[in-house]
Amino acid sequence: MKYALFADIHSNLEAFQVVREEFKKEKIDEYICLGDIVGYAANPNECIKLTRELNPLTVIAGNHDWASVGKAGINYFNPIAKEAILWTQKELTEKNKNFLGDLPLIKEFDDFVIVHGSLYSPEKWHYIFTLQDAKRNFDYQKKKICFIAHSHQPFINSQDREGNCEGVKEMKVSLKDDYRYLINIGSVGQPRDGNPDACYCLYDTAKSAIEIKRISYEIKKAQDKIISAGLPQELAWRLSLGR
Ligand SMILES: [Fe+2]
Repeated sequence: MKYALFADIHSNLEAFQVVREEFKKEKIDEYICLGDIVGYAANPNECIKLTRELNPLTVIAGNHDWASVGKAGINYFNPIAKEAILWTQKELTEKNKNFLGDLPLIKEFDDFVIVHGSLYSPEKWHYIFTLQDAKRNFDYQKKKICFIAHSHQPFINSQDREGNCEGVKEMKVSLKDDYRYLINIGSVGQPRDGNPDACYCLYDTAKSAIEIKRISYEIKKAQDKIISAGLPQELAWRLSLGR
């Protein structure tokens, strides 16, 4: 079984289209979206449509998805993110608002679980940045693998049977018995790890292999749309920095 996992598209249609083309080459069996389809860029409805065309598909909620339909508060967002949320609220069709509002926070599969922020407080949208954060998440993790998103910074962490955690240096891993894994799958539409390329993740259960992949896309086109839509300019220039 080959899973394609993706998240934090953030209404960036150009990035998502390129990632979808990569999916076609990979013979994917199942698609999994870890939330934040909308927010920040200029094509929220189009990105929801393209997501929902993938089949079979599982989607969970991100903070921007719920905030864009009034299901999560927006006070904790910075002013730029807040402006994008308010813009997105006006853009979204009723049908798409209902879709986003109905998304769950967590989903479990055979050997893995998916959540946008953290297992310890999914509705509070905590970020997992440090090994200490990762350890806390492992305390709540019953499955072998937990896939997360939210920080837009991909990583692979492992934990041995004694509870020792470490980051895997490469952006791919062959799963070992007796180890558990916490994997941030990065962001399709607004990477923040210094690499502006769109990011997604493949999990091949037959090979017990997980890989975080990157692909370049037409950043300039996404930037021009953000500016034309009247969204904050910072949201455009940060795309070329990957910050
Ligand atoms: Fe996000």
